[in-house]
Amino acid sequence: MSVPVLLDVDTGIDDSLALLYAVASPEIDLLGASCVAGNVPLDAVVSNTAAVLDLAGRCDVETAPGCDRPMARPLKTTPETHGPTGTGHAMPAASPDRSSERSGIDLVIDTARSRPGEVTLVALGPLTNVAVALDREPRLLTLLDRLVIMGGCFGVAGNTAPRTEWNTHVDPEAARAVFAAAGRGACNLPLVMPLDVTEQARLLPHHVARMAEIGGESMEFLDPLLAGPEAGRLMSFITDALRFYMEFHQRYDGFYGAFVHDPFAVAAAVDPSLVTTVETTVDVETAGELTTGETVADFRDSWGRPPNAAVAVAARADVFLERLVVRLGGLLRSRP
Ligand code: RIB
Ligand code: CA
Repeated sequence: MSVPVLLDVDTGIDDSLALLYAVASPEIDLLGASCVAGNVPLDAVVSNTAAVLDLAGRCDVETAPGCDRPMARPLKTTPETHGPTGTGHAMPAASPDRSSERSGIDLVIDTARSRPGEVTLVALGPLTNVAVALDREPRLLTLLDRLVIMGGCFGVAGNTAPRTEWNTHVDPEAARAVFAAAGRGACNLPLVMPLDVTEQARLLPHHVARMAEIGGESMEFLDPLLAGPEAGRLMSFITDALRFYMEFHQRYDGFYGAFVHDPFAVAAAVDPSLVTTVETTVDVETAGELTTGETVADFRDSWGRPPNAAVAVAARADVFLERLVVRLGGLLRSRP
């Protein structure tokens, strides 16, 4: 049975892989993508999301523009991570403007209302859209089957500041509002995929080579990552986007590869056996001089507050990576 899924994205390179993974996964019924400003400005997120879905043969999937800035702060983007346009060295042809008439917020609310208890919303960027949707529809978390959040870090160093992960760092007020809503009960606890587990999955050049082989494609080089001269459009996109992302990780994390946070969150959303979770209370710092955006988990219940999250604390990263390689390889085989 397929799982109805909405993705909230700030497309970016790993968001692109998450979109491709969702399209390539037979158990996922991708209902739409709501876009939020984050890695790049909103207009680039919308254009990138539509372009990736077109490359995957899914121009039928609704792409809706959501919030163009955080709730209470100026937007921060990260061109150094995802490139000036958000897809690294890849410059996918912008598809004709097919962004939805309705906003990303309305896409989320309308879909949850129309299929109560069925839809999984996977938030892969700052939580601005989710927080605004909750403000407009306070029942949202009970109307959804589940909310899955890629974000936060608890026992590992942050990737944006010493204690903060990018998505919660960009919009701490939105993240705090979402966790507060989840703590008011009557919903499945959101699954939280923090850096603690997403950084256990490192996509390396040999994974891309295997993806290409499965997809009937060839690689010119693995370092730097370069597709063969006869590569199809989707293979060229994947290698050109990942080459930029791997260069970034070489500079900042000391390895030529890529943390693939967002597709891991999508994979865990539809296969909870990929992660081990602990139910706890999470809150978000919004006024710290050094720690604004930090996600704080009360694992020892010192606050005495009801749990509001199922935080992934361990993961089967290798199983996920194998699934990512095989499924994207299968998608490559199906695309020109
Ligand atoms: O910290 C990783 C997250 O921030 C991912 O969602 C990535 O796309 C960026 O948005
Ligand atoms: Ca993202």
